[in-house]
Amino acid sequence: MKKLHIETYGCQMNVADSEVVASILKKEGLEYTKDINEADVILLNTCSIREHAENKIFQRLNELKKLRAGKEDLIVGLIGCMAERLKDKLFEKKGLVDIAAGPDSYRSLPSLLEQAYEKKNALDVELSLTETYSEIFPYRYDDNGISAFVSIMRGCNNFCSYCIVPYTRGRERSRDAQSIIDEVKQLATKGYKEVTLLGQNVNSYSYENEGQSVTFPQLLEQVALAVPNMRIRFTTSHPKDLSDDLLYVMAKYDNLAKWIHLPVQSGSTTVLQRMNRRYTREWYLDRVAAIRRILPEASITTDIMCGFSDETEAEQEETLSLMKEVGYDTAFMFKYSEREGTVASKRMPDNVPDDVKTKRLNDIIAVQNELSRMKNAEDEGKVFEVLVEGVSKKDEGEWKGRSSQNKTVVFPANNVKPGDFVKVKILSSSSATLRGEIA
Ligand code: SAH
Ligand code: SF4
Ligand code: F3S
Repeated sequence: MKKLHIETYGCQMNVADSEVVASILKKEGLEYTKDINEADVILLNTCSIREHAENKIFQRLNELKKLRAGKEDLIVGLIGCMAERLKDKLFEKKGLVDIAAGPDSYRSLPSLLEQAYEKKNALDVELSLTETYSEIFPYRYDDNGISAFVSIMRGCNNFCSYCIVPYTRGRERSRDAQSIIDEVKQLATKGYKEVTLLGQNVNSYSYENEGQSVTFPQLLEQVALAVPNMRIRFTTSHPKDLSDDLLYVMAKYDNLAKWIHLPVQSGSTTVLQRMNRRYTREWYLDRVAAIRRILPEASITTDIMCGFSDETEAEQEETLSLMKEVGYDTAFMFKYSEREGTVASKRMPDNVPDDVKTKRLNDIIAVQNELSRMKNAEDEGKVFEVLVEGVSKKDEGEWKGRSSQNKTVVFPANNVKPGDFVKVKILSSSSATLRGEIA
């Protein structure tokens, strides 16, 4: 039997996609292996979000050349966003990749493999308006058997001016609601305890079926009811579409995690306008106020980008002040990276010098570290329900898990096992971790 090895880069959607790919190829007789040295086919599922992400992949491809040296028949394929973006350019350098398949082309991987074995450049980067891989049950070859990702939609229609995703993933489309429920139920039967519903903008989920449309709050409610013993998360929420309806559904069901990832990008309305985010600072703060009102126990996390075209010191200051006003629990923080083909790359100069971007990013990170420390300190004395994931690597003899708020909690205990939900009282904290004891 031939062996397949997949390396996944980029976002959680790629993790979910790699599992779809593994499922498709398993049916063709290719079994997944963790060990790259015994693989007959190596696929890199790639990301184009920032230049750095792509550079890392090129480095990896160069490393893989050594592996290819002794193995005539070894197939190396590049799949995902970078394949979509670079298309046949990937074949220009001989001996780098044999297959390039975009995010909507995974059903053709078996035929692409055949072409590759015939020493042809195997390319399929056709984007689809309808593909959701809805009936393919992902082969979760490398998860912990406790938490799983379930993709509920694909693509993006928002065209934020800096972002490559609408070009690499194509138009937004929602997956059949029933197939989502079926998959989640099946996960529950297999012993999974937590599921994260995935989409670039889950708040615009909308599935039409026989004249009826299912919205995201409705889908979430259906999932909450279908698997009452599982914890349900979702990501990502676009602030422009975050409705009170959604927050009320989240408040109504204990098994809906009290965590909202709400990428702000910038605290300045003028920057948000240039980014085509379609909300203002005030709108965003109003959405945060709604979360605090309806879901007071929820954590709020975000993505922040600095150094976008024409960004001034005053605009950067607005980002820092918004961060403090919201009090984020954690954040992913980035320097703007210009992506060829986006509206920003055509019309908005990448004119903030790199050393200024670096300084701004460091200032943002410093503020966030302090906020995370403060937010976690507020949790001391409180009791959280923690889903046990395994033993803590750092603290020997202790368990590690996550709270509904998506915070890592470390605690000693004797009678627990991975997959258990336990109540933990927080005794101390740092900016990264909560520590406690069984309550
Ligand atoms: N759909 C999500 C974001 C997906 S991309 C949303 O709209 O919020 C994840 C994060 O990468 C973004 O939130 C943004 O902060 C960052 N990002 C996207 N394009 C980028 C670019 N060109 N340069 C730097 N960071 C970028
Ligand atoms: Fe990119 Fe904006 Fe779509 Fe998010 S919503 S994936 S940032 S275009
Ligand atoms: Fe990267 Fe594509 Fe995800 S560009 S962030 S892998 S959608």
